[in-house]
Amino acid sequence: MTCSVESNKEKIIKSKMRVQNHGEVFTPMRIVNRMLNLPKIREACQNVTSTFLEPTAGEGVFLVEILNRKLKMVANHYGDDLTRYENYSLLALSTLYGVELLEDNAQKCVMNMFKVYYDAYRQQATEHCAKMKNKVLDSAKVIIANNIALGNFLTKLTTNGNPITFSEWQPINLRKDTKIIKIQRTEYTIDDILDGTVKQSNASTHLDKVVQITLFNLFDDDKVSETAKKRMRYVPVRITDVYKEEMEEIDGQNNN
Ligand SMILES: C[S@@+](CC[C@H](N)C(=O)[O-])C[C@H]1O[C@@H](n2cnc3c(N)ncnc32)[C@H](O)[C@@H]1O
Repeated sequence: MTCSVESNKEKIIKSKMRVQNHGEVFTPMRIVNRMLNLPKIREACQNVTSTFLEPTAGEGVFLVEILNRKLKMVANHYGDDLTRYENYSLLALSTLYGVELLEDNAQKCVMNMFKVYYDAYRQQATEHCAKMKNKVLDSAKVIIANNIALGNFLTKLTTNGNPITFSEWQPINLRKDTKIIKIQRTEYTIDDILDGTVKQSNASTHLDKVVQITLFNLFDDDKVSETAKKRMRYVPVRITDVYKEEMEEIDGQNNN
């Protein structure tokens, strides 16, 4: 079917069938900005640690704009030193979550978020006459891939029928003068989050060490291999090292 155009190239529907089947109508940028400019939301968008979850993320128009705003704030407050920018920009990125039902939209959302992160980082690196670091870009990819879930927010299940899980990237040494941020990663299901449960979920039995960095972890729902169902947890690491996804076995603990 034909596509409706909001302004210049802004496409708000892809097809009549997708609107009927999935309620897919994208929000025009001017509406996004009006909503994000509302009191309290505007301030939250400029707070590095305030968390956002978009339950029907689409191509990420809200998440991308929030990321833009957070990264501008990070550049202003922490841009005097590239290491500080790298650490705080990853922390800002780690606070943005989304769920999307349709694979092509989820994929576009992930790519859109990475592009915004990449472009802003490149600009900072250029201003500091430095090169971008692979470990920072790889960590950004891991964070985005884990924070954008392909699934149904109503059933709280992925397309493969497993519970949707999100990682909390909790800074553990954050003070005013912190330059190198360390984080503790913990996985929760949406039910854990909605119930306010703070225990580690079964999702943290993942063992596979990720060797190849992919932007599309969200489509690889088979991380838990049959041979690897040990009780595992993520090791606290520098935020620029989260790409390693290092885990350790939980020894002698009762995890029930
Ligand atoms: C109205 S569009 C909005 C997209 C985006 N938030 C925006 O403002 O442009 C709704 C989106 O939600 C997705 N969706 C519909 N039902 C969903 C569900 N139960 N869980 C997750 N996503 C869903 C659709 O695929 C579509 O991309």
